[in-house]
Amino acid sequence: MEQRVLGRTGRQVGVVGLGAWQLGADWGEVSEADALATLHAAVDAGVDFIDTADVYGDGRSEKIIGRLLGERPGLTVATKMGRRMLQTPEAYTLGNFRAWTDRSRANLGVDTLDLVQLHCPPSAVFDDDAVFDGLDTLVAEGAIAAYGVSVESVGEALTAIARPNVAAVQIILNAFRLKPLDEVLPAAEKAGVGIIARVPLASGLLSGRYGPQTVFAENDHRNFNRQGEAFDVGETFSGVEYGVGLQAVDRIRGLVPRGMTMAQFALRWIIDQPGVSVVIPGARNPEQARANAAAADLPPLPAETHATVRRVYDELIRPQVHHRW
Ligand SMILES: NC(=O)c1ccc[n+]([C@@H]2O[C@H](COP(=O)([O-])OP(=O)(O)OC[C@H]3O[C@@H](n4cnc5c(N)ncnc54)[C@H](OP(=O)(O)O)[C@@H]3O)[C@@H](O)[C@H]2O)c1
Repeated sequence: MEQRVLGRTGRQVGVVGLGAWQLGADWGEVSEADALATLHAAVDAGVDFIDTADVYGDGRSEKIIGRLLGERPGLTVATKMGRRMLQTPEAYTLGNFRAWTDRSRANLGVDTLDLVQLHCPPSAVFDDDAVFDGLDTLVAEGAIAAYGVSVESVGEALTAIARPNVAAVQIILNAFRLKPLDEVLPAAEKAGVGIIARVPLASGLLSGRYGPQTVFAENDHRNFNRQGEAFDVGETFSGVEYGVGLQAVDRIRGLVPRGMTMAQFALRWIIDQPGVSVVIPGARNPEQARANAAAADLPPLPAETHATVRRVYDELIRPQVHHRW
């Protein structure tokens, strides 16, 4: 698989990673056996970067990845911290960082975490020097090798990129979320900060498999977070109203070249963007993990295809999302 440098971590990672939220909770049931099989299938297919968080299934995702690490050395695992308690700026202290990272180290079974990301903290946290001093201390103590920030908005991304020791920024980037292309990707590239592209399939919408009648399980955020009831609505279908998303998918469907699924098309669209380090599709079974990894080997999309995706975005999606994130 094509390798890219993950920003200031200095590590090389395959351009398609694996998002492991599904292996924790919030996406309907995924058994432990399926979760482990999905991880192995991804690694077998060349994936060497996994994104998780302490809050995914309250540690379940991290613990299952910890079991994988025992069997498959050489992987890079990024976790996140800060959403197991109320997100107030006062919570982002060195003491809490130590406690949170100790728990993640135990869950993953490692002495040093490869990359820890602040998990969409309140905006005020981005301006607090003490927060970043605390993270530097964790690096100096050897609890973490590097840190980054998972952000909601373009403004937060730019603030994080300007911090001298932020190694990588995780942001929503997909055919329904184009705003990071304007400033965030160029700024990250210039500063040498990695870009981890999340929600690449707009929560599966860009796979082209859903229709107006599709029903999501009660414990699936695509059911319970449609209006942002549990967390930022931008994380569910990329913040696009479901019916409008389906219309846009229908306009894009015809652009998918032969030999590619629509999900692979959506991933390839992201891989083609300069400045992206790694894209992290979530997968709930081995078939999805394998198909997603295979997107790395597909040829870049033609320029006119990129132009059409932008046109569909401008006409249907932009009015819903561009001003918000
Ligand atoms: N705040 C944050 O930092 C944050 C927020 C969100 C996500 N993330 C990270 O980003 C990762 C990716 O985002 P995401 O999981 O929210 O959304 P996503 O990757 O856009 O969508 C995942 C969904 O797409 C469908 N899918 C995946 N591979 C497929 C394939 N090959 N063919 C057809 N359908 C496929 C599956 O839907 P079905 O379930 O319907 O099969 C899967 O659950 C997460 O796992 C997590 O690691 C971080």
